[in-house]
Amino acid sequence: LGSIQVDVSGMEAGQSITVMWRGKPVFIRYRTPEEVAAARDTPLEDLKDPVARNENLEAGAPATMENRSPAGREEFLVMIGICTHLGCVPTGEAGEFGGWFCACHGSVYDTAGRIRHGPAPRNMDIPLNNFVDDTTIKIG
Ligand code: FES
Repeated sequence: LGSIQVDVSGMEAGQSITVMWRGKPVFIRYRTPEEVAAARDTPLEDLKDPVARNENLEAGAPATMENRSPAGREEFLVMIGICTHLGCVPTGEAGEFGGWFCACHGSVYDTAGRIRHGPAPRNMDIPLNNFVDDTTIKIG
């Protein structure tokens, strides 16, 4: 109910698209190997919010790079593109961690969409999602 399927066959590493799902923007980013490595190499102790916020996982799962990614497809990131502070839509490929920057009040997110600086309290949310074939993501 209320799910969508997104064809990502035309995407290359370093590209992002935004799709609308249940009235919200969902960011789909095909991450570069460097972006994946940066997310993987960040110690959990460095995170403001160490919880994955991923609806595919149990509630308290840690915010590792893998736990923020679609199962088995860590080059991708699929997340609700809404700042967890007051709901602005952050800008991609921006901010000091190379992820997203919310210009409303200066929240900085990393390449896994995890909050690193600024007033936002939580990582951006990961909706239910999975690859139904090599190039199709189901959201919801
Ligand atoms: Fe994003 Fe305030 S809404 S920093």
